[in-house]
Amino acid sequence: MKLAFDYNNMMGYSIGEHGIKKSIIDDGKAAHKAAYDEVIGNSGKGWQEWTETPLIDKTEIDELNDFGKSIREKASSFVVLGIGGSALGPICVFNALLHLHHNELPEKMRKAPKIYVEDNIDPERMSALLDVIDLKTTYFNIITKSGETSETLSQFIILYNAMKKAVGEKAAKEHFFATTTIGKGALYSVAQKEGFRIFGIPAGVGGRFSVLSNVGLVPFAVMGIDIEKMLDGAKEMRKACERTDIYRNPALMTAFLQVESMKAGKNISVMMPYADGLKTMADFYCQIWAESLGKAVDKKGNTVNCGQTPAKSLGVTDQHSQVQLYTEGPFDKVVTFIAVDKFGAVTDIPSDESAEVGDFLKGHTLNELINAERKSTEFALTKAGRSNFTVILPEVNAETVGELLMYFMYETAFAGAYLDIDTFNQPGVEEGKKATFAMIGRSGYEKKLEELNSIKKQDEFIIR
Ligand code: PA5
Repeated sequence: MKLAFDYNNMMGYSIGEHGIKKSIIDDGKAAHKAAYDEVIGNSGKGWQEWTETPLIDKTEIDELNDFGKSIREKASSFVVLGIGGSALGPICVFNALLHLHHNELPEKMRKAPKIYVEDNIDPERMSALLDVIDLKTTYFNIITKSGETSETLSQFIILYNAMKKAVGEKAAKEHFFATTTIGKGALYSVAQKEGFRIFGIPAGVGGRFSVLSNVGLVPFAVMGIDIEKMLDGAKEMRKACERTDIYRNPALMTAFLQVESMKAGKNISVMMPYADGLKTMADFYCQIWAESLGKAVDKKGNTVNCGQTPAKSLGVTDQHSQVQLYTEGPFDKVVTFIAVDKFGAVTDIPSDESAEVGDFLKGHTLNELINAERKSTEFALTKAGRSNFTVILPEVNAETVGELLMYFMYETAFAGAYLDIDTFNQPGVEEGKKATFAMIGRSGYEKKLEELNSIKKQDEFIIR
């Protein structure tokens, strides 16, 4: 694999009493085996079909690329409609692999359409989107695993209606394609009826584990991202995560260290990439870590109320915002740094600049500075006895991004297995979804509406 994982600063020898002793890792053989067997032993089964997503054959990759090219060549804008696991994968990959100001690039320099991932239903955002796209040359990928998500369906209804008005009923159909579970859900039915092209999501691939299925691959292919290389990277990481020895298995080791840290009260997991292109990787991580591990009960039905609250932070920006807390606040965090050895650009700080300012910086590069600052933050945290580890990417490219995404999925699955919880469900989200249906008047939710209406707020506790 191309990635490296440095967990020295999780260890007691490095950070003292808040660190983990090597003997804890060595004595945990039975737990490691159980977690390993749970994840690797069930590869491809039940909700663990995500482990197989990188294994699609070359013909499928070629078909996706051909489809992507056909859209790319005619689109001025490409819009993804989705939320949660149906949006965060596309968002973080575009952020990592497209130009950082992709949409602002002059048309000649932009090799793909402008991209918008609409993962909210803020009415102003919808109206803002309609202000900047030209519907006649815009193509929409509606992504929803369940095919029933209110946010995504409402966006679709609005935009399909707008498109019909702009280009006529018949032509509008050509502007939409759907990624959903074949044979299930409202989106599948409407897509079939309207004749949209449909891409399937395998039954056993859940939203937050779906980035390397058609959920991600279709939009990546449209934007001209090298999906073959990305899947190669994911396959490499898959192999690394199948290593039985915990000292050689990055996801098993860091999952164990995180779970041990949780047991010691470190209930916050900070994800801190030192690269703007990886900024939204932290969003991807936050969702998979929070929704997978935040659970009320374990598999035996015991109340556990477990989970580690993920927090996102960007190096170096948040050194001037969060790092004071990380260094001197409560011992309740594990910080994961993501480091990049070689950036896509080298930016000199000119040594021949005569202005009498920052002489110590002149002659260096921003590349040197960002990595010096990362190492210095790591040093400061370590000196203060704070748990931290670093994931190192030699550079950000399709292959290393594929590795990183796969690592996050395996790390989460192993952590869930150590905690003996159901990693792949999200019962805590369902109540809110049902309440929304009730409030919006969906039939079948009348009882829920009664329950909602029975809740009375007391005016004395409202300040106006
Ligand atoms: O990880 C998950 O399962 C969720 O975050 C879903 O991705 C999210 O709720 C959207 O669901 P759907 O893809 O069914 O629209």
